[in-house]
Amino acid sequence: MKQPKKTAEQRGGAACVIGWPVKHSRSPLIHNYWIKQHGIAGEYRREEVAPDRLADFLARMAALGYLGCNVTLPHKEAVLALTEPDNRARAVGAANTLWLDGNHLRSTNTDVEGFLGGLDAAAPGWDNGMEKAVVLGAGGAAAAVTFGLVGRGVERIRVVNRTYERAEALAKRFGSRVKPARWEEMTGLFSGTQLLINTTSLGMEGQPSLPCNLKPLPDSAVVADIVYVPLETPLIAAAKARGLRVTDGLSMLLHQAVRGFSLWFGVVPEVTPELRALVEADLRAAAPAVPAAMDLKPDDTQPSQIKSPRAKRAKAKPVE
Ligand code: ATR
Repeated sequence: MKQPKKTAEQRGGAACVIGWPVKHSRSPLIHNYWIKQHGIAGEYRREEVAPDRLADFLARMAALGYLGCNVTLPHKEAVLALTEPDNRARAVGAANTLWLDGNHLRSTNTDVEGFLGGLDAAAPGWDNGMEKAVVLGAGGAAAAVTFGLVGRGVERIRVVNRTYERAEALAKRFGSRVKPARWEEMTGLFSGTQLLINTTSLGMEGQPSLPCNLKPLPDSAVVADIVYVPLETPLIAAAKARGLRVTDGLSMLLHQAVRGFSLWFGVVPEVTPELRALVEADLRAAAPAVPAAMDLKPDDTQPSQIKSPRAKRAKAKPVE
């Protein structure tokens, strides 16, 4: 006999975020807020899983009582081979959300919709007639952003990276609308750019600011930063000072969480101002002083030699 559909309250169960380290993750704060808000008999936990335990942990997910999980550094690429990834996760080359579907452990990448969701909320209609976007960086986050932009029909996307070869490799994966550019070309590309996205770790606490000048951007441009520590990066501060619309890394973090929650608990949750305030308060409590202003150096587009340590970055740019 067919079972009646369960309500969210009846569904219950647990989910978690796996990473190594995982202490930094704000996902428990976000998901446990929604669990409480919807009166679900569930829990969202942190699970520290070392790389050599990853396969075993995933194989035992159901036995451990989990409906699914988020995945953060350093496992986002490794989980592809251990799960059944959807087209999106395959195209991006990384997954951040896993769920059990009967005996199948499926995976997807919700950083894509996290980025798009933040953008849609901050600048509704941004994609109407969007001709040119510039993506700074060529890592996993840049791949998720580029995938999202291609899907929304952006006509020309320039991927600018300190290591040009990585920009070239990323552009090749996403077709003729995506072209690589050298780091030194950055500011020169801004004229006519309607959307600028930083996916590098520059501007993150403890890192140098992005060496760019926003003056050539049109007044209608939108600026996005995926870094959320500090909450207002020097890039976002400079874009605001220039009167541009902005979307920040926290917005992306909150929006990327929506789909995982709905896959596990059967309810589509909302990114509310109250939730944002809750996570903001947590980030502020953990962070020291926020840098005051962007170091604007008009023609200085020389790449910084400072390479960010993984552990440091894991605190501030884990778009789970
Ligand atoms: P993620 O998966 O989070 O995107 P990643 O693959 O380590 O992380 O990518 C980090 C991005 O930040 C890269 O584009 C990196 O440039 P390189 O490919 O040249 O390493 C960029 N990045 C990090 N530190 C930088 C710096 N000091 N100056 C310029 N770019 C930097």
